[in-house]
Amino acid sequence: MLKSFDVAIIGAGPGGYVAAIRCAQLGLNTVCIDEWENAKGRPSLGGTCLNVGCIPSKALLESSENFYSSMHKFKDHGISIKGASVDVPVMISRKDKIVTTFTAGIASLFKKNKVTSIHGKAILKKEGDQTAEWTIEVKDKKGTETIQAKHVIIATGSTPRQLPLIPIDNDRILDNTGALALTEIPKRLGVIGAGVIGLEMGSVWRRLGSEVTILEAMPEFLMAADQQIAKEAYKIFCKEPGLSIQTKVDIKKIKTTKKKGVVVEYIDADNNPQKLEVDKLIVAVGRVPNTAGLGVEDLDVETDERGFIIVDDYCRTNVTNVYAVGDVVRGPMLAHKASEEGVAVAEMISAIEKGEEREYEHVDFNTVPWVIYTSPEIAWVGKTEQQLESEGITYKVGQFPFMANGRARALGEAAGFVKVLADATNDRILGVHMMGPHVSELISEAVVAMAFSASSEDLARIIHAHPSLSETLHEAALAVDKRALHI
Ligand code: NAI
Repeated sequence: MLKSFDVAIIGAGPGGYVAAIRCAQLGLNTVCIDEWENAKGRPSLGGTCLNVGCIPSKALLESSENFYSSMHKFKDHGISIKGASVDVPVMISRKDKIVTTFTAGIASLFKKNKVTSIHGKAILKKEGDQTAEWTIEVKDKKGTETIQAKHVIIATGSTPRQLPLIPIDNDRILDNTGALALTEIPKRLGVIGAGVIGLEMGSVWRRLGSEVTILEAMPEFLMAADQQIAKEAYKIFCKEPGLSIQTKVDIKKIKTTKKKGVVVEYIDADNNPQKLEVDKLIVAVGRVPNTAGLGVEDLDVETDERGFIIVDDYCRTNVTNVYAVGDVVRGPMLAHKASEEGVAVAEMISAIEKGEEREYEHVDFNTVPWVIYTSPEIAWVGKTEQQLESEGITYKVGQFPFMANGRARALGEAAGFVKVLADATNDRILGVHMMGPHVSELISEAVVAMAFSASSEDLARIIHAHPSLSETLHEAALAVDKRALHI
């Protein structure tokens, strides 16, 4: 007799494990299958986010920022530190410990919520009556186990996109995994792609002392961000010693050298051929959905031309009782977007099983916050000025610099600003864009405001603690009506 579940979730990243916990909370008999193994070959829940993404990169960003501050910023406070040095293996092992705590934490959460956890690679089989029950084969080193489930949620995430010019070896040519596991500081570091990973990883190693060169194919820097923020960020980053960002480059050739280096040949923005020699090269040119070996082709689950599983607003695929969430479907490749989709699908399955007649939840991409953990940080929610212009929406702008914020000055982190975009006709907030200290935290207030359809006046009328960084958002909201107080 095969083990049978109400819901099988394939993938235990932030989309899958959150869906599993929510399914179990709603009383569904739930199994979560995941194949991830850590460097020691042990099962490790949490997917890319916990193992080689969001969490470890933040750990290293914090360590490198502390080192950088001790070298360059403490002296402004009258603190001098002689002989500061970095022990990279200690830094990496601190990061690894944080990762292990959280991946083990998911195993505990599964136990607490009575989610069955199976390690191995899941393959959906075309067997039996799939409208009643799906058959899933799970393979790992120890053997094959077959289970059944009525509903299946695919949450298999994404993998780094490779350049056809050279394969990732995580020795000299690194993806995010390799970039988080270097055991010494490379003297010269090249990064292909000035996206989120390129900028964050470039920041880590630059702050530790690497000479970093970032090569970006697009003509403008950070094209997804509001261009005023992107231009200001570009100016600030390029002033940093040890960092060069080149846009509009065309990478022609990448080869490893006998002297343990890497040479990148490219055409620069002025159409001149260039050669860059580095010790390590990070390739961060986007990610591709991970559906390989899952059996989706056999089951006729529709995918688009880029390999994403096609789903409707509620994350339903074209196949009965099969859903997909997170990086493997359309929308931003962000952990929090994946988790929210996981929760929405869990609640929909529960409603179906309980025969509840109600509208299902779906994730509103317009209120999904974006954060880039550079220094200063960048964060935004909603539409950029460029999007509003192209959609012909008239809007008002309110802006306020961190320079005029007392808390930011006290922190010694006064670069950047907050910008609020509000509808010119009804004052509803359409977008909020930030660059500056801790904006990864500040953006939440803007998300709440937008989720509740607030106007800029609503934000302007709310009392903000003084002195706090949040006063910058308050002042930007006041500035929409040209009544900022401290500028
Ligand atoms: P990305 O899509 O953010 O950036 C990739 C960059 O590479 C783009 O600017 C693109 O124009 C450039 N590029 C592509 N091909 C190129 C080529 N041949 N030569 C030079 N440049 C080229 O992708 P990234 O940084 O790899 O991150 C992957 C995903 O992970 C993203 O969707 C991101 O949202 C997510 N992520 C989110 C984080 C966060 O929320 N803080 C942190 C890390 C990753």
